[in-house]
Amino acid sequence: MIVLGIESSCDETAAAVVENGTSILSSIVSSQADVHHKYGGVVPELASRMHIEAILPVVNQAMDAAGTSLDAIDGVAATRGPGLTGALLVGFSFAKAFAWARGLPLAGVNHLEGHIHSVFLTPNPPEFPFVILLASGGHTNLYHVTSFDDFELMGQTRDDAAGEAFDKVAKMLGLGYPGGAVIEKLAHGGDPARFSFPKPFLEKDSFDFSFSGLKSAVARFIHEQVPDAASMKANIAASMKANIAASMKADIAASMKADITASMKADIAASFQESVVDVLSRKLLGAATARGVNHIAVAGGVAANGALEERLKNIINAPLDFFDHKKAEQIKGMTLHIPPVSLCGDNAAMIAARGYGMILDGRVCRLDHDVFSRTRI
Ligand code: KG4
Ligand code: ZN
Repeated sequence: MIVLGIESSCDETAAAVVENGTSILSSIVSSQADVHHKYGGVVPELASRMHIEAILPVVNQAMDAAGTSLDAIDGVAATRGPGLTGALLVGFSFAKAFAWARGLPLAGVNHLEGHIHSVFLTPNPPEFPFVILLASGGHTNLYHVTSFDDFELMGQTRDDAAGEAFDKVAKMLGLGYPGGAVIEKLAHGGDPARFSFPKPFLEKDSFDFSFSGLKSAVARFIHEQVPDAASMKANIAASMKANIAASMKADIAASMKADITASMKADIAASFQESVVDVLSRKLLGAATARGVNHIAVAGGVAANGALEERLKNIINAPLDFFDHKKAEQIKGMTLHIPPVSLCGDNAAMIAARGYGMILDGRVCRLDHDVFSRTRI
């Protein structure tokens, strides 16, 4: 069965053609990040307008890239929610019209279930049961997954999502939107141990998250540093004053100013990322030991973070450094699954993969079905 997938829940317009829920024939993602960058976040009205402009060319591109004719499409799957209502409406209405015109079944896919299904598009998908961390710009959820359709919510964020924290810290550092990839890049050159920001583990054995306190701690810290950095620069400039020529002083002061700011930013980024990565990886592995599973996975935009993947691999290799004996024994045998970066962020292949099973089961939408902005699975 060949399914055309459509995704438009936030700031990516995406279309994909997927065969039998596992084989990607094409996947096109058109990002609006450049447009929202200067506002430091997604502007919903702009997002809707840009989806309207992009949807038809993106679907055409996906069809061309797959080399599929219209007649070869057996079903349509589109994100129905959660997300921005205006943005969702563009993709979902397009999908309704497409399905109606071609006489095809339409699956209205839950975006979060789509992210979970991204792991089934990889060559070595996890075996059931597994525990998955879904970390994106809007969600930080832990699920115990026992079949293609059964997702037990074990924990979730009580305030900000992990990706949202990355985006907000990036904004504080003047790096624009979206922040995850930029913070990760900056953190490469930084010292993760220089500043100790809070690591919110909450109550013992809780699988919930909370990132707003960490975000506020970083904000306070940056605020406090600014006058210190300025006075430090003034002192250095004053002590140099006596000995060297004016133009040389200016050059040195300017280059030191840039250096102090850049290295401080890198250390803040690395120290912040360290807090998030430590909490996410320990909670995921803690949840996996609680359910006794051998497979774990990460999905969503934050799954693209290389430091998170590295930490999880390190813990699996040397669990005793992080967990007690009993849990360490369980963790040693675990296999980690993270989709390629192209499937971590929003895409339509994961929507088609999820919709495939729904269409097979006859769980399809009618023309009077609407989108939803919030939900829980
Ligand atoms: O899944 P996604 O594309 O959209 C939502 O459903 O929200 O996730 C986007 C989020 C953004 O907050 C972005 O900053 C974050 O994923 N992200 C990252 C990285 N790449 C994207 N966070 C940390 N490290 C990354 N490399
Ligand atoms: Zn998403």
